[in-house]
Amino acid sequence: MSESKGQFNSNFGFIMATVGSAVGLGNLWGFPYKMGTNGGFAFFILYLLMLCMTGFSVMIAEFAVGRSTGKAPIEAYRELNSKYTIVGYFAVAAAVFLLAFYCTLGGYTMKYFVENFISIFTHGGIYSTGDTSQYFSDFINNGGSVVLYLALFMIINLIIIMGGVAGGIEKFTTVAMPALFIMLIIVIIKVLTLDGSGAGLSFMFKPNMEAFQGTGWINVLGRAGGQMFFSLSLGMAAIITYGSYLSKKESLVKNAVIVPVADTIVALMAGMAVMPACFAFNIEPSGGPGLLFITLQQVFNDMGSVGPFFGFLLYFLVFIAAITSSISVAEAVVSAAIDARIKKGKSYNRKTIASIVICIEFLLNLPTALDALGGAGLPQPLGFCWLDFYDLLAEGLLMPFGSLCLAIIVGYGLKVEWLQEECEAEGNKFSGKGYWKACFKVLSPLAMVFILLGQIDSFFSLGIFG
Ligand code: PFF
Repeated sequence: MSESKGQFNSNFGFIMATVGSAVGLGNLWGFPYKMGTNGGFAFFILYLLMLCMTGFSVMIAEFAVGRSTGKAPIEAYRELNSKYTIVGYFAVAAAVFLLAFYCTLGGYTMKYFVENFISIFTHGGIYSTGDTSQYFSDFINNGGSVVLYLALFMIINLIIIMGGVAGGIEKFTTVAMPALFIMLIIVIIKVLTLDGSGAGLSFMFKPNMEAFQGTGWINVLGRAGGQMFFSLSLGMAAIITYGSYLSKKESLVKNAVIVPVADTIVALMAGMAVMPACFAFNIEPSGGPGLLFITLQQVFNDMGSVGPFFGFLLYFLVFIAAITSSISVAEAVVSAAIDARIKKGKSYNRKTIASIVICIEFLLNLPTALDALGGAGLPQPLGFCWLDFYDLLAEGLLMPFGSLCLAIIVGYGLKVEWLQEECEAEGNKFSGKGYWKACFKVLSPLAMVFILLGQIDSFFSLGIFG
């Protein structure tokens, strides 16, 4: 029963936890850079289009699958119809693979906030390094140090999850998310007062139609969709699991709008913190980990004596964003394991199960942690570095395929009336039935096929879309 697994105390707690899951590294280093290099404001419009076609609908469907059954994905899908069980396995497998690289990156963020914090007092260390690229490379090639920070990151995850849904996750995220928001505003104010920051805003927001020439827009649409999906934590078991802890009193329609809107606002704000800072110091923004750990550290080192303080603030904020995301995925795996015990009629201990899950994830993270983003000479699966390999399995394949299945299941198997019934539980309104019907029957499956092809295309550089 869901009661025995725990429940959020309030809708605010649920929103903070779910927005916490959504706001993560994807917002802070993925969104601003992708927006800037894929057409600026025009990318944003396509992002919103994808959100309307499939983001809101998969979000509400995941809430409903979780809440109607009170279970994590595998048992939730099984309860709806045993034919659907496999889709639950896809979601939990995606969660396992996502954590296998996300926690290593979480460890990186800890290293950087700790080092910047120390520099506030010493004005030495990371702050005085002349070459932030070399510093980053030295760090990621120092396996012992990376594994140590990974272990710390995982222990914090474990402590929060051991506290349970209301006592751990809700308590932590209701403090952490407002704090993150305030820290982000402080960083934005500082950055926008730097000379030359305006160029960063125009990098992000200027419509650049070049990216759309020929079949380019199809590429951009695929990228915008993939980014949107990852950013909303869809297709990876986390949202279904959080939905299973939500009281029937709360409105699913309202929450399925609030969470994506809040996530998008934070992504835009992250862009306003990151991009203008790079441009103010004439540093070319890059993508991926390089943006966060090389470019931005350079910005703080160039900022003068307040650099370490703002560096600490930014990396601490990114760490909070990463941990509120990783706990949602880890909780999904823990919850699925608890369901399996309950199904067998066995008793369970949340703390023991959480410890086992975290230990397994720690082991799965070791290749990522020791791989130095592919530079350490470890064997590379399918020619990918370990981070990209796990990301391919989670974000590239399982996430879009599982979500395509979910859209079809709701559109043609369970039907929108099932969704309506769940949304109207305890007297809430189910507004926009026509819109949801169009989403599940046509728009969302189409968009998901598109996102799946886009992901395969970008991982294997197939040039499907020209
Ligand atoms: N939404 C997170 C981000 O933007 O970084 C990543 C993520 C977290 C994806 C949890 C999936 C998930 F289940």
